[in-house]
Amino acid sequence: MEERAVKKQWWKEKVVYQIYPKSFKDSNGDGIGDLKGILEKLPYLKNLGIDMVWLSPVYQSPFIDQGYDISDYYKISEVFGTMEDFDTLLAEAKKLGIGIVMDLVINHCSSEHEWFQKALKDPYGEYAGYFYFEKGKDGNPPSNYRSYFGGSAWEKVPGTDLYYLHMFAKEQPDLNWENPKVKKELFDMINWWLDKGIAGFRIDAIINIKKDVNFPSYEPDGPDGMCACTAMVERVDGIGELLGELKRETFAKRDTFTVGEVFNLKEGALEEFVGEDGYFSSMFDFAPHMLTEGQNGWYDTREVTFLEWKKTIIQSQMECQGKAFLSNIIENHDEPRGVSRYLPEYAQNPDGIKMLGCVSVLLRGIPFIYQGQEIGMTNCQMDSIEDYDDIDTYHQYREAREAGLSDKEALEACYRFSRDNARTPMQWDAGENAGFTKGMPWLRVNENYRMVNVADQEKDPGSVLHFYRKLIALRKSEEWKNVFVYGEFLPLFEEDESLFAYARTDGEKKAVILANFGKEEMTVKFSENLGKVLLANMYRPQQINAREVVLEPCEVLVCQVCE
Ligand code: NOJ
Repeated sequence: MEERAVKKQWWKEKVVYQIYPKSFKDSNGDGIGDLKGILEKLPYLKNLGIDMVWLSPVYQSPFIDQGYDISDYYKISEVFGTMEDFDTLLAEAKKLGIGIVMDLVINHCSSEHEWFQKALKDPYGEYAGYFYFEKGKDGNPPSNYRSYFGGSAWEKVPGTDLYYLHMFAKEQPDLNWENPKVKKELFDMINWWLDKGIAGFRIDAIINIKKDVNFPSYEPDGPDGMCACTAMVERVDGIGELLGELKRETFAKRDTFTVGEVFNLKEGALEEFVGEDGYFSSMFDFAPHMLTEGQNGWYDTREVTFLEWKKTIIQSQMECQGKAFLSNIIENHDEPRGVSRYLPEYAQNPDGIKMLGCVSVLLRGIPFIYQGQEIGMTNCQMDSIEDYDDIDTYHQYREAREAGLSDKEALEACYRFSRDNARTPMQWDAGENAGFTKGMPWLRVNENYRMVNVADQEKDPGSVLHFYRKLIALRKSEEWKNVFVYGEFLPLFEEDESLFAYARTDGEKKAVILANFGKEEMTVKFSENLGKVLLANMYRPQQINAREVVLEPCEVLVCQVCE
Protein backbone atom coordinates (compact mmCIF):
# COMPACT_ATOMS: atom_id res chain seq x y z
CA MET A 1 0.00 0.00 0.00
CA GLU A 2 1.28 3.43 -0.99
CA GLU A 3 0.59 4.81 2.48
CA ARG A 4 3.49 2.81 3.91
CA ALA A 5 5.77 5.28 2.15
CA VAL A 6 4.95 7.74 4.90
CA LYS A 7 6.84 7.05 8.06
CA LYS A 8 5.67 7.05 11.65
CA GLN A 9 6.51 10.26 13.48
CA TRP A 10 5.56 11.27 16.99
CA TRP A 11 3.65 14.39 16.04
CA LYS A 12 1.38 12.58 13.60
CA GLU A 13 -0.30 10.83 16.49
CA LYS A 14 -1.18 14.01 18.35
CA VAL A 15 -4.34 16.01 18.75
CA VAL A 16 -3.73 19.75 19.00
CA TYR A 17 -5.82 22.40 20.73
CA GLN A 18 -5.50 26.04 19.76
CA ILE A 19 -5.74 28.57 22.55
CA TYR A 20 -6.46 32.21 21.84
CA PRO A 21 -4.94 33.47 25.09
CA LYS A 22 -6.85 36.75 25.34
CA SER A 23 -10.12 34.84 25.41
CA PHE A 24 -9.40 31.55 27.15
CA LYS A 25 -9.39 32.16 30.89
CA ASP A 26 -8.72 35.26 32.94
CA SER A 27 -7.12 34.58 36.32
CA ASN A 28 -6.66 38.16 37.61
CA GLY A 29 -9.92 39.89 36.78
CA ASP A 30 -8.57 42.37 34.24
CA GLY A 31 -10.94 41.01 31.59
CA ILE A 32 -8.14 39.49 29.50
CA GLY A 33 -7.20 35.84 29.49
CA ASP A 34 -3.70 34.99 30.74
CA LEU A 35 -1.10 32.27 31.25
CA LYS A 36 -2.22 31.49 34.78
CA GLY A 37 -5.72 31.00 33.40
CA ILE A 38 -4.37 28.49 30.91
CA LEU A 39 -2.44 26.73 33.69
CA GLU A 40 -5.66 26.37 35.66
CA LYS A 41 -7.34 24.68 32.69
CA LEU A 42 -4.59 22.18 31.84
CA PRO A 43 -6.45 19.31 33.53
CA TYR A 44 -9.49 20.14 31.39
CA LEU A 45 -7.35 19.84 28.26
CA LYS A 46 -5.77 16.63 29.47
CA ASN A 47 -9.20 15.21 30.07
CA LEU A 48 -10.24 16.12 26.56
CA GLY A 49 -7.32 14.07 25.22
CA ILE A 50 -5.17 16.95 24.03
CA ASP A 51 -1.45 16.33 23.42
CA MET A 52 -0.29 19.71 22.22
CA VAL A 53 -1.48 23.25 22.74
CA TRP A 54 -0.84 25.97 20.19
CA LEU A 55 -0.80 29.35 21.85
CA SER A 56 -1.65 32.29 19.61
CA PRO A 57 1.01 34.96 20.31
CA VAL A 58 1.75 35.75 23.96
CA TYR A 59 4.80 37.92 23.29
CA GLN A 60 5.14 41.60 24.13
CA SER A 61 3.00 43.55 21.71
CA PRO A 62 1.02 46.77 21.30
CA PHE A 63 -1.85 44.53 20.09
CA ILE A 64 -2.64 46.42 16.91
CA ASP A 65 -3.27 42.99 15.40
CA GLN A 66 -3.95 41.18 18.66
CA GLY A 67 -0.39 40.07 19.29
CA TYR A 68 0.55 39.28 15.68
CA ASP A 69 2.61 42.47 15.96
CA ILE A 70 5.50 41.52 18.23
CA SER A 71 7.62 44.22 19.84
CA ASP A 72 9.91 41.85 21.76
CA TYR A 73 10.26 38.18 20.82
CA TYR A 74 11.94 37.39 24.13
CA LYS A 75 9.26 38.82 26.42
CA ILE A 76 5.83 37.74 27.47
CA SER A 77 3.23 40.49 27.23
CA GLU A 78 2.39 41.79 30.67
CA VAL A 79 -1.31 41.29 29.97
CA PHE A 80 -0.60 37.55 29.85
CA GLY A 81 1.85 37.36 32.75
CA THR A 82 5.59 36.87 33.03
CA MET A 83 8.26 34.60 31.60
CA GLU A 84 8.15 32.78 34.92
CA ASP A 85 4.44 32.09 34.36
CA PHE A 86 5.33 30.79 30.93
CA ASP A 87 8.02 28.49 32.29
CA THR A 88 5.61 27.16 34.88
CA LEU A 89 2.98 26.53 32.24
CA LEU A 90 5.50 24.73 30.05
CA ALA A 91 6.70 22.56 32.94
CA GLU A 92 3.23 21.72 34.24
CA ALA A 93 1.97 20.95 30.74
CA LYS A 94 4.94 18.65 30.22
CA LYS A 95 4.06 16.75 33.39
CA LEU A 96 0.66 16.06 31.86
CA GLY A 97 2.21 15.01 28.57
CA ILE A 98 1.08 18.19 26.82
CA GLY A 99 3.52 20.01 24.53
CA ILE A 100 3.42 23.74 23.93
CA VAL A 101 3.46 25.02 20.37
CA MET A 102 4.32 28.70 20.05
CA ASP A 103 3.17 31.05 17.33
CA LEU A 104 6.08 32.15 15.19
CA VAL A 105 5.49 35.50 13.54
CA ILE A 106 8.58 36.25 11.49
CA ASN A 107 7.34 37.83 8.29
CA HIS A 108 6.93 41.08 10.19
CA CYS A 109 7.34 42.51 13.66
CA SER A 110 5.72 45.47 15.40
CA SER A 111 6.60 49.05 14.53
CA GLU A 112 7.37 49.35 18.24
CA HIS A 113 10.10 46.73 17.99
CA GLU A 114 13.52 48.13 18.82
CA TRP A 115 14.79 47.30 15.30
CA PHE A 116 12.13 49.39 13.66
CA GLN A 117 12.51 52.24 16.11
CA LYS A 118 16.24 52.33 15.36
CA ALA A 119 15.49 52.21 11.65
CA LEU A 120 13.20 55.21 11.90
CA LYS A 121 15.88 57.16 13.73
CA ASP A 122 18.44 56.39 11.04
CA PRO A 123 16.57 55.61 7.81
CA TYR A 124 19.74 54.99 5.83
CA GLY A 125 21.53 53.10 8.58
CA GLU A 126 21.99 49.49 9.59
CA TYR A 127 18.54 48.86 11.01
CA ALA A 128 16.73 50.27 7.98
CA GLY A 129 18.26 47.24 6.27
CA TYR A 130 16.24 45.01 8.60
CA PHE A 131 13.16 46.17 6.71
CA TYR A 132 12.29 47.25 3.19
CA PHE A 133 12.96 50.96 3.07
CA GLU A 134 12.54 51.90 -0.58
CA LYS A 135 12.46 55.07 -2.61
CA GLY A 136 9.07 56.14 -3.97
CA LYS A 137 8.45 56.50 -7.71
CA ASP A 138 7.35 59.89 -9.05
CA GLY A 139 5.91 60.92 -5.75
CA ASN A 140 4.11 57.60 -5.38
CA PRO A 141 4.88 54.52 -3.32
CA PRO A 142 7.39 52.08 -4.87
CA SER A 143 4.59 49.82 -6.15
CA ASN A 144 0.83 49.52 -6.20
CA TYR A 145 0.45 46.75 -3.61
CA ARG A 146 -2.61 46.73 -1.40
CA SER A 147 -2.03 45.45 2.12
CA TYR A 148 -4.12 42.60 3.57
CA PHE A 149 -5.90 45.04 5.84
CA GLY A 150 -6.66 47.56 3.08
CA GLY A 151 -4.86 50.61 1.73
CA SER A 152 -1.32 50.78 0.35
CA ALA A 153 1.24 48.27 1.62
CA TRP A 154 3.75 51.14 1.68
CA GLU A 155 3.96 53.78 4.37
CA LYS A 156 6.07 56.90 4.29
CA VAL A 157 9.17 56.93 6.46
CA PRO A 158 8.75 60.31 8.18
CA GLY A 159 11.13 63.04 7.04
CA THR A 160 12.41 61.12 3.98
CA ASP A 161 11.37 60.20 0.46
CA LEU A 162 11.42 56.56 1.52
CA TYR A 163 8.57 54.15 2.12
CA TYR A 164 8.58 50.96 4.15
CA LEU A 165 6.72 47.80 3.21
CA HIS A 166 3.97 46.34 5.38
CA MET A 167 1.84 43.59 3.90
CA PHE A 168 -0.41 43.68 6.95
CA ALA A 169 -1.07 46.79 9.09
CA LYS A 170 1.27 49.77 8.90
CA GLU A 171 2.25 48.88 12.46
CA GLN A 172 3.53 45.51 11.14
CA PRO A 173 6.60 46.32 9.01
CA ASP A 174 7.88 43.39 6.92
CA LEU A 175 11.27 42.03 7.89
CA ASN A 176 13.97 41.83 5.24
CA TRP A 177 14.79 38.16 4.79
CA GLU A 178 17.47 39.00 2.24
CA ASN A 179 19.54 40.45 5.08
CA PRO A 180 21.73 37.77 6.75
CA LYS A 181 21.66 39.70 10.04
CA VAL A 182 17.88 39.53 10.18
CA LYS A 183 17.97 35.80 9.54
CA LYS A 184 20.57 35.32 12.24
CA GLU A 185 18.51 37.32 14.75
CA LEU A 186 15.41 35.27 13.95
CA PHE A 187 17.18 31.89 13.97
CA ASP A 188 18.79 32.70 17.32
CA MET A 189 15.41 33.64 18.73
CA ILE A 190 13.79 30.44 17.45
CA ASN A 191 16.58 28.33 18.96
CA TRP A 192 16.25 30.21 22.24
CA TRP A 193 12.59 29.17 22.45
CA LEU A 194 13.41 25.62 21.38
CA ASP A 195 16.06 25.44 24.11
CA LYS A 196 13.29 26.04 26.59
CA GLY A 197 11.76 22.75 25.53
CA ILE A 198 8.70 23.80 23.56
CA ALA A 199 7.27 21.19 21.21
CA GLY A 200 7.24 23.36 18.14
CA PHE A 201 5.83 26.27 16.22
CA ARG A 202 2.82 27.30 14.22
CA ILE A 203 4.35 29.54 11.60
CA ASP A 204 2.50 32.68 10.63
CA ALA A 205 2.14 34.06 7.10
CA ILE A 206 5.33 32.28 6.10
CA ILE A 207 4.81 32.36 2.35
CA ASN A 208 5.20 36.14 2.51
CA ILE A 209 8.83 36.20 3.62
CA LYS A 210 10.16 36.03 0.06
CA LYS A 211 9.88 39.32 -1.78
CA ASP A 212 10.62 40.36 -5.32
CA VAL A 213 12.98 43.13 -4.29
CA ASN A 214 12.34 44.99 -7.55
CA PHE A 215 8.80 45.40 -6.26
CA PRO A 216 7.15 45.52 -9.67
CA SER A 217 3.64 46.95 -9.92
CA TYR A 218 0.95 44.75 -11.41
CA GLU A 219 -2.34 45.21 -13.19
CA PRO A 220 -4.77 46.80 -10.70
CA ASP A 221 -7.44 44.40 -9.45
CA GLY A 222 -9.76 47.02 -7.99
CA PRO A 223 -11.03 50.56 -8.45
CA ASP A 224 -8.34 51.84 -6.03
CA GLY A 225 -5.75 51.21 -8.76
CA MET A 226 -3.93 48.74 -6.52
CA CYS A 227 -3.38 45.01 -6.67
CA ALA A 228 -3.33 42.58 -3.76
CA CYS A 229 0.21 42.22 -2.41
CA THR A 230 -0.25 38.49 -2.91
CA ALA A 231 0.23 39.12 -6.65
CA MET A 232 3.94 39.51 -5.92
CA VAL A 233 4.02 36.54 -3.52
CA GLU A 234 2.46 34.32 -6.16
CA ARG A 235 5.00 35.25 -8.80
CA VAL A 236 8.29 35.46 -6.95
CA ASP A 237 10.65 32.47 -6.94
CA GLY A 238 13.15 31.44 -4.34
CA ILE A 239 11.17 30.93 -1.13
CA GLY A 240 12.58 27.41 -0.94
CA GLU A 241 16.08 28.63 -0.21
CA LEU A 242 14.88 30.71 2.71
CA LEU A 243 12.71 27.96 4.14
CA GLY A 244 15.43 25.37 3.69
CA GLU A 245 17.83 27.56 5.63
CA LEU A 246 15.25 28.26 8.32
CA LYS A 247 14.73 24.54 8.79
CA ARG A 248 18.42 23.66 8.77
CA GLU A 249 19.37 26.36 11.24
CA THR A 250 16.58 25.69 13.71
CA PHE A 251 13.89 22.98 13.54
CA ALA A 252 16.03 20.27 12.00
CA LYS A 253 18.48 20.36 14.89
CA ARG A 254 15.87 18.61 17.02
CA ASP A 255 12.66 16.85 16.26
CA THR A 256 10.54 19.99 16.25
CA PHE A 257 6.92 19.95 15.18
CA THR A 258 6.12 22.75 12.75
CA VAL A 259 2.86 23.64 11.09
CA GLY A 260 2.82 26.31 8.44
CA GLU A 261 0.13 28.83 7.74
CA VAL A 262 0.59 28.66 4.00
CA PHE A 263 -1.66 30.40 1.53
CA ASN A 264 -0.91 30.93 -2.17
CA LEU A 265 1.19 27.79 -2.45
CA LYS A 266 2.45 27.28 -5.98
CA GLU A 267 1.11 24.31 -7.86
CA GLY A 268 3.14 21.18 -7.36
CA ALA A 269 4.93 22.55 -4.27
CA LEU A 270 3.11 20.44 -1.67
CA GLU A 271 5.85 17.87 -1.18
CA GLU A 272 8.59 20.46 -1.18
CA PHE A 273 6.78 22.13 1.72
CA VAL A 274 5.41 19.24 3.74
CA GLY A 275 6.59 16.02 2.11
CA GLU A 276 8.87 13.57 3.86
CA ASP A 277 11.78 16.04 3.78
CA GLY A 278 9.64 19.15 3.55
CA TYR A 279 10.32 22.47 5.21
CA PHE A 280 7.56 21.87 7.76
CA SER A 281 6.04 18.87 9.47
CA SER A 282 2.59 19.90 8.33
CA MET A 283 0.49 22.77 7.06
CA PHE A 284 -3.13 23.69 7.44
CA ASP A 285 -5.66 22.65 4.87
CA PHE A 286 -7.39 25.94 4.13
CA ALA A 287 -8.93 24.77 0.86
CA PRO A 288 -12.47 24.35 2.28
CA HIS A 289 -12.25 27.70 4.04
CA MET A 290 -11.16 29.52 0.90
CA LEU A 291 -14.27 28.45 -0.99
CA THR A 292 -16.40 31.33 0.25
CA GLU A 293 -13.81 33.90 -0.82
CA GLY A 294 -15.34 36.48 -3.17
CA GLN A 295 -13.81 39.30 -5.18
CA ASN A 296 -14.45 42.03 -2.65
CA GLY A 297 -14.26 40.70 0.86
CA TRP A 298 -16.85 39.59 3.37
CA TYR A 299 -19.82 41.46 1.92
CA ASP A 300 -19.28 39.71 -1.37
CA THR A 301 -18.67 36.06 -0.50
CA ARG A 302 -19.74 33.03 -2.51
CA GLU A 303 -22.41 30.61 -1.43
CA VAL A 304 -20.87 27.18 -1.12
CA THR A 305 -22.87 23.97 -1.47
CA PHE A 306 -22.38 20.97 0.77
CA LEU A 307 -21.16 18.97 -2.22
CA GLU A 308 -18.53 21.56 -3.13
CA TRP A 309 -17.30 21.74 0.44
CA LYS A 310 -17.14 17.96 0.81
CA LYS A 311 -15.38 17.47 -2.53
CA THR A 312 -12.81 20.10 -1.65
CA ILE A 313 -11.93 18.29 1.56
CA ILE A 314 -11.76 14.99 -0.30
CA GLN A 315 -9.50 16.52 -2.93
CA SER A 316 -7.07 17.79 -0.28
CA GLN A 317 -7.08 14.39 1.37
CA MET A 318 -6.35 12.61 -1.90
CA GLU A 319 -3.63 15.02 -2.95
CA CYS A 320 -1.57 14.41 0.15
CA GLN A 321 -2.24 10.69 0.50
CA GLY A 322 1.06 8.88 0.82
CA LYS A 323 2.94 12.17 0.47
CA ALA A 324 2.18 14.56 3.25
CA PHE A 325 0.27 15.06 6.45
CA LEU A 326 -2.03 18.08 6.56
CA SER A 327 -3.52 19.74 9.64
CA ASN A 328 -7.29 19.88 9.61
CA ILE A 329 -9.43 22.57 11.18
CA ILE A 330 -13.04 23.63 11.06
CA GLU A 331 -12.25 27.02 12.57
CA ASN A 332 -9.45 29.11 14.08
CA HIS A 333 -8.93 32.64 15.37
CA ASP A 334 -9.16 34.05 11.84
CA GLU A 335 -12.20 32.12 10.69
CA PRO A 336 -15.85 32.13 11.70
CA ARG A 337 -17.10 29.30 13.90
CA GLY A 338 -17.45 26.05 11.93
CA VAL A 339 -20.88 25.34 13.38
CA SER A 340 -22.26 28.61 12.00
CA ARG A 341 -20.42 28.29 8.73
CA TYR A 342 -20.64 24.70 7.66
CA LEU A 343 -23.86 23.44 9.18
CA PRO A 344 -27.19 24.31 7.57
CA GLU A 345 -29.61 25.87 10.01
CA TYR A 346 -31.52 22.63 10.59
CA ALA A 347 -28.27 20.95 11.64
CA GLN A 348 -27.11 23.63 14.09
CA ASN A 349 -27.92 21.48 17.07
CA PRO A 350 -25.85 19.13 19.25
CA ASP A 351 -26.23 16.21 16.84
CA GLY A 352 -25.17 18.29 13.86
CA ILE A 353 -22.24 19.72 15.81
CA LYS A 354 -21.04 16.25 16.77
CA MET A 355 -21.38 15.13 13.17
CA LEU A 356 -19.25 18.02 11.91
CA GLY A 357 -16.60 17.38 14.57
CA CYS A 358 -16.51 13.69 13.78
CA VAL A 359 -15.99 14.01 10.02
CA SER A 360 -13.22 16.53 10.66
CA VAL A 361 -11.30 14.80 13.46
CA LEU A 362 -11.15 11.41 11.73
CA LEU A 363 -9.73 12.74 8.47
CA ARG A 364 -6.18 11.82 7.62
CA GLY A 365 -3.91 14.47 9.16
CA ILE A 366 -3.54 16.23 12.47
CA PRO A 367 -6.77 17.42 14.07
CA PHE A 368 -6.56 20.96 15.43
CA ILE A 369 -9.40 21.84 17.75
CA TYR A 370 -9.97 25.51 18.37
CA GLN A 371 -11.04 26.57 21.87
CA GLY A 372 -14.79 26.30 22.28
CA GLN A 373 -15.21 24.05 19.25
CA GLU A 374 -15.49 21.09 21.63
CA ILE A 375 -18.65 22.58 23.15
CA GLY A 376 -20.10 23.86 19.89
CA MET A 377 -19.53 27.60 20.26
CA THR A 378 -21.10 29.66 17.49
CA ASN A 379 -20.69 33.03 15.77
CA CYS A 380 -21.62 36.02 17.88
CA GLN A 381 -23.98 38.77 16.77
CA MET A 382 -22.73 42.25 17.69
CA ASP A 383 -24.92 45.37 17.76
CA SER A 384 -22.47 47.81 16.29
CA ILE A 385 -19.04 47.98 14.72
CA GLU A 386 -17.76 49.42 18.01
CA ASP A 387 -18.42 46.06 19.65
CA TYR A 388 -15.62 44.56 17.57
CA ASP A 389 -11.92 44.75 18.39
CA ASP A 390 -10.29 43.53 15.21
CA ILE A 391 -8.37 45.51 12.62
CA ASP A 392 -9.54 43.24 9.81
CA THR A 393 -13.19 43.55 10.80
CA TYR A 394 -12.91 47.34 10.79
CA HIS A 395 -11.36 47.18 7.33
CA GLN A 396 -13.99 44.79 5.98
CA TYR A 397 -16.80 46.85 7.47
CA ARG A 398 -15.38 50.01 5.85
CA GLU A 399 -15.12 48.29 2.48
CA ALA A 400 -18.71 47.12 2.73
CA ARG A 401 -19.94 50.61 3.60
CA GLU A 402 -17.91 52.16 0.79
CA ALA A 403 -19.49 49.69 -1.60
CA GLY A 404 -22.88 51.10 -0.60
CA LEU A 405 -24.07 48.62 2.02
CA SER A 406 -26.04 49.92 4.98
CA ASP A 407 -24.69 49.65 8.52
CA LYS A 408 -27.04 46.72 9.10
CA GLU A 409 -25.93 44.90 5.96
CA ALA A 410 -22.26 45.50 6.68
CA LEU A 411 -22.73 44.19 10.23
CA GLU A 412 -24.50 41.15 8.81
CA ALA A 413 -21.37 40.39 6.75
CA CYS A 414 -19.27 40.75 9.91
CA TYR A 415 -21.62 38.43 11.75
CA ARG A 416 -20.93 35.80 9.14
CA PHE A 417 -17.21 36.28 8.68
CA SER A 418 -15.61 38.42 11.38
CA ARG A 419 -12.52 37.03 13.06
CA ASP A 420 -14.07 38.09 16.37
CA ASN A 421 -16.71 35.39 15.98
CA ALA A 422 -14.11 32.93 17.15
CA ARG A 423 -12.42 35.31 19.59
CA THR A 424 -15.27 35.87 22.04
CA PRO A 425 -14.48 34.58 25.53
CA MET A 426 -14.51 30.87 26.21
CA GLN A 427 -17.80 29.79 27.74
CA TRP A 428 -16.89 27.96 30.92
CA ASP A 429 -20.19 28.11 32.81
CA ALA A 430 -23.61 29.76 33.00
CA GLY A 431 -22.45 32.34 35.56
CA GLU A 432 -21.49 35.94 35.00
CA ASN A 433 -19.30 36.49 31.90
CA ALA A 434 -19.56 32.78 31.20
CA GLY A 435 -17.02 32.15 33.96
CA PHE A 436 -14.29 33.65 31.78
CA THR A 437 -13.51 36.64 33.98
CA LYS A 438 -14.57 38.35 37.16
CA GLY A 439 -13.87 41.68 35.48
CA MET A 440 -15.14 43.30 32.32
CA PRO A 441 -14.35 41.03 29.34
CA TRP A 442 -12.23 42.70 26.64
CA LEU A 443 -14.62 41.38 24.00
CA ARG A 444 -18.29 40.70 24.43
CA VAL A 445 -19.33 37.25 25.62
CA ASN A 446 -21.65 35.42 23.24
CA GLU A 447 -25.14 35.60 24.69
CA ASN A 448 -25.75 31.92 24.20
CA TYR A 449 -23.34 31.05 27.05
CA ARG A 450 -26.20 30.02 29.31
CA MET A 451 -27.07 27.31 26.80
CA VAL A 452 -23.58 26.49 25.57
CA ASN A 453 -20.95 26.11 28.28
CA VAL A 454 -18.42 23.64 29.64
CA ALA A 455 -19.91 23.20 33.13
CA ASP A 456 -23.33 22.12 31.87
CA GLN A 457 -21.84 19.83 29.27
CA GLU A 458 -19.58 18.20 31.86
CA LYS A 459 -22.72 17.06 33.66
CA ASP A 460 -24.43 15.74 30.54
CA PRO A 461 -22.98 12.50 29.15
CA GLY A 462 -24.82 13.14 25.89
CA SER A 463 -23.21 16.55 25.38
CA VAL A 464 -20.99 17.74 22.55
CA LEU A 465 -18.07 17.90 24.99
CA HIS A 466 -18.43 14.25 26.00
CA PHE A 467 -18.72 13.30 22.35
CA TYR A 468 -15.46 15.12 21.50
CA ARG A 469 -13.75 13.24 24.34
CA LYS A 470 -14.90 9.92 22.92
CA LEU A 471 -13.97 10.99 19.43
CA ILE A 472 -10.43 11.93 20.40
CA ALA A 473 -10.08 8.80 22.50
CA LEU A 474 -11.15 6.66 19.55
CA ARG A 475 -8.60 8.30 17.25
CA LYS A 476 -5.85 7.67 19.77
CA SER A 477 -6.95 4.24 21.00
CA GLU A 478 -4.44 1.40 20.78
CA GLU A 479 -6.93 -0.57 18.72
CA TRP A 480 -7.68 2.10 16.11
CA LYS A 481 -4.73 4.48 16.16
CA ASN A 482 -3.00 2.85 13.24
CA VAL A 483 -6.13 3.15 11.14
CA PHE A 484 -7.05 6.72 12.00
CA VAL A 485 -3.55 8.13 12.15
CA TYR A 486 -1.60 6.26 9.52
CA GLY A 487 -4.34 4.58 7.52
CA GLU A 488 -5.38 5.38 4.01
CA PHE A 489 -8.32 7.71 3.30
CA LEU A 490 -10.91 6.31 0.92
CA PRO A 491 -13.79 8.56 -0.15
CA LEU A 492 -17.19 6.93 -0.47
CA PHE A 493 -20.40 8.01 -2.24
CA GLU A 494 -18.53 11.07 -3.49
CA GLU A 495 -21.39 12.44 -5.59
CA ASP A 496 -24.01 12.15 -2.85
CA GLU A 497 -25.44 15.55 -2.01
CA SER A 498 -26.21 14.81 1.64
CA LEU A 499 -23.88 12.06 2.72
CA PHE A 500 -20.29 12.68 3.82
CA ALA A 501 -18.73 9.26 3.90
CA TYR A 502 -15.23 7.89 3.88
CA ALA A 503 -13.31 4.87 5.02
CA ARG A 504 -9.96 4.64 6.77
CA THR A 505 -7.87 1.52 6.60
CA ASP A 506 -4.38 0.35 7.50
CA GLY A 507 -4.71 -2.68 5.26
CA GLU A 508 -5.73 -4.91 8.13
CA LYS A 509 -8.61 -3.11 9.76
CA LYS A 510 -11.11 -0.78 8.19
CA ALA A 511 -13.61 1.72 9.54
CA VAL A 512 -16.23 3.84 7.79
CA ILE A 513 -17.45 7.25 8.81
CA LEU A 514 -20.98 8.03 7.62
CA ALA A 515 -22.59 11.39 8.19
CA ASN A 516 -26.00 12.48 6.96
CA PHE A 517 -25.86 16.23 6.41
CA GLY A 518 -29.28 16.14 4.73
CA LYS A 519 -32.75 16.89 6.05
CA GLU A 520 -34.18 13.44 5.30
CA GLU A 521 -33.30 10.01 6.59
CA MET A 522 -31.32 7.93 4.13
CA THR A 523 -30.42 4.32 3.50
CA VAL A 524 -26.78 3.61 2.79
CA LYS A 525 -25.88 0.31 1.13
CA PHE A 526 -22.50 -1.39 1.19
CA SER A 527 -20.91 -4.38 -0.43
CA GLU A 528 -19.17 -5.17 2.85
CA ASN A 529 -20.61 -5.95 6.23
CA LEU A 530 -20.96 -3.20 8.80
CA GLY A 531 -19.86 -4.58 12.16
CA LYS A 532 -18.88 -3.08 15.47
CA VAL A 533 -20.09 0.46 16.19
CA LEU A 534 -17.09 2.55 17.24
CA LEU A 535 -18.85 5.87 17.77
CA ALA A 536 -22.31 7.28 17.15
CA ASN A 537 -24.17 10.45 17.99
CA MET A 538 -27.55 8.74 18.18
CA TYR A 539 -28.63 5.47 19.72
CA ARG A 540 -27.07 2.41 18.09
CA PRO A 541 -26.61 -1.15 19.27
CA GLN A 542 -22.99 -2.30 19.66
CA GLN A 543 -23.06 -4.19 16.38
CA ILE A 544 -24.78 -3.40 13.09
CA ASN A 545 -24.28 -6.74 11.32
CA ALA A 546 -25.83 -5.71 8.03
CA ARG A 547 -24.83 -4.40 4.64
CA GLU A 548 -27.06 -1.43 4.87
CA VAL A 549 -27.91 1.17 7.43
CA VAL A 550 -30.55 3.89 7.77
CA LEU A 551 -29.21 7.24 8.89
CA GLU A 552 -31.32 9.95 10.50
CA PRO A 553 -30.69 13.59 9.55
CA CYS A 554 -27.59 14.83 11.44
CA GLU A 555 -26.59 11.30 12.30
CA VAL A 556 -22.96 10.29 12.25
CA LEU A 557 -21.81 6.73 12.61
CA VAL A 558 -18.32 5.29 12.78
CA CYS A 559 -18.15 1.55 12.44
CA GLN A 560 -15.88 -1.29 11.57
CA VAL A 561 -16.36 -2.97 8.21
CA CYS A 562 -15.58 -6.57 7.54
CA GLU A 563 -15.46 -8.53 4.29
C1 NOJ B 1 -2.19 35.28 10.23
C2 NOJ B 1 -2.74 35.33 11.61
O1 NOJ B 1 -3.40 34.13 11.88
C3 NOJ B 1 -3.63 36.54 11.67
O2 NOJ B 1 -4.40 36.57 12.84
C4 NOJ B 1 -2.77 37.76 11.52
O3 NOJ B 1 -3.59 38.91 11.42
C5 NOJ B 1 -1.89 37.68 10.27
N1 NOJ B 1 -1.32 36.39 10.02
C6 NOJ B 1 -0.73 38.65 10.38
O4 NOJ B 1 0.21 38.18 11.30
